[in-house]
Amino acid sequence: MKTILDGEANDPDARDARRSALGRDSEGERSSAGEVKLGLGEAAVVAGLGFGCAALMGRVGRKESLAALGAAYEAGIRFFDSARSYGYGEAEALLGEFLRGRRSGVVISTKFGVLPAAAGPMSAARRLKPLVRGLLHVAPGARRWLQGPLAAQRSSGHFSVADLHASLEASLRALRTDYVDVLSLHDPPPSVLERGELFAALQDLVAAGKVRWVGVAAEPEVIESALAARPAGLRYLQFPCNLFNLGLGQRLVGRAGGDFIAIANHPFGGPAGVAGGKRLLSLLSVAPATPAGLREKLRPADDAVLADVVLNLVTGGLGVPTVVASMLHMEHLRANLAALRNSRFDSKELSWILEAILSTEAAAMTPGS
Ligand SMILES: NC(=O)c1ccc[n+]([C@@H]2O[C@H](COP(=O)([O-])OP(=O)(O)OC[C@H]3O[C@@H](n4cnc5c(N)ncnc54)[C@H](OP(=O)(O)O)[C@@H]3O)[C@@H](O)[C@H]2O)c1
Repeated sequence: MKTILDGEANDPDARDARRSALGRDSEGERSSAGEVKLGLGEAAVVAGLGFGCAALMGRVGRKESLAALGAAYEAGIRFFDSARSYGYGEAEALLGEFLRGRRSGVVISTKFGVLPAAAGPMSAARRLKPLVRGLLHVAPGARRWLQGPLAAQRSSGHFSVADLHASLEASLRALRTDYVDVLSLHDPPPSVLERGELFAALQDLVAAGKVRWVGVAAEPEVIESALAARPAGLRYLQFPCNLFNLGLGQRLVGRAGGDFIAIANHPFGGPAGVAGGKRLLSLLSVAPATPAGLREKLRPADDAVLADVVLNLVTGGLGVPTVVASMLHMEHLRANLAALRNSRFDSKELSWILEAILSTEAAAMTPGS
């Protein structure tokens, strides 16, 4: 599977600028500046890790959102994944504000097709936001039963050509830029992938310089449909890839071959998946079949070990070159950077963990097991 850096093979200047934005020199290796330094404030560029903007202006407010973006940028992250709908429609504007003066050195991915809750100062989403944040702060477990009402605040399925143009113009205004690097269909139903007129309109936007790459960001089943339909101009696939669906991720990477640029999202399974991921690592750390040295390394099953396993399995194990994660907390940012910089696992150990998880997944899916 290609990396996001391979998309500009015919444009050496743009390719080199983007390589350096992503921390690789023009030979495609991580540059010396690409070495991740954890003392935030040192200018280092991190390849492999992108900042997911879904929780900006939603799970946290403006001050924390800007602080998280600042920490990520200072630590060298240059890939930002957003969508028109994120942060009740306010995440893109915050990102645009933050990136003022930094645009040429970053890669922006955004999406269309899901609209945020109706705008306006008195919309239900806006009125509920502080209440929801407060509730999640005192009772994080409330997220599960809030998911339904919160999802009802967004409106999906807006994939007409007029929707595309209106959404992109709103994104460009909010992001304070005249182009986005990646524009993806956001959670489309599979039937949308057959709409020739939509993909023709997307290609016109690429020709006009408003979009560099066209993508689909969706659940694995829809990505499978995209791989079957192969709509004209589709270059980029973004899909969830975490400890609970590594098999699906592996299948998609195999099917995509070298034709697409892949990005993994949702690597920890969202806030709710973090505890489950750690439980899985704890189980592996006591399983009699696990080699003794590996058991020791897995035993803490903390944020650092979780990051190490997840990020290195997805990038090194499955070969997806870039992972976008939510990292609002500085300790998560640090753990994720450290994991990609220097894994405690060698490649044999990572292969062992990958095989163990894949065979557990397979056994769980076998009827009667
Ligand atoms: N269809 C789509 O297009 C789609 C779907 C899902 C996701 N995405 C993209 O992917 C991004 C990430 O996905 P996500 O937000 O769903 O979930 P995620 O990144 O899998 O999980 C985020 C949760 O994990 C925590 N975390 C991060 N690093 C950690 C670590 N080392 N140890 C323990 N916990 C850690 C985060 O905490 P803090 O944030 O509080 O630090 C947050 O609670 C989104 O922001 C979005 O850009 C796209």
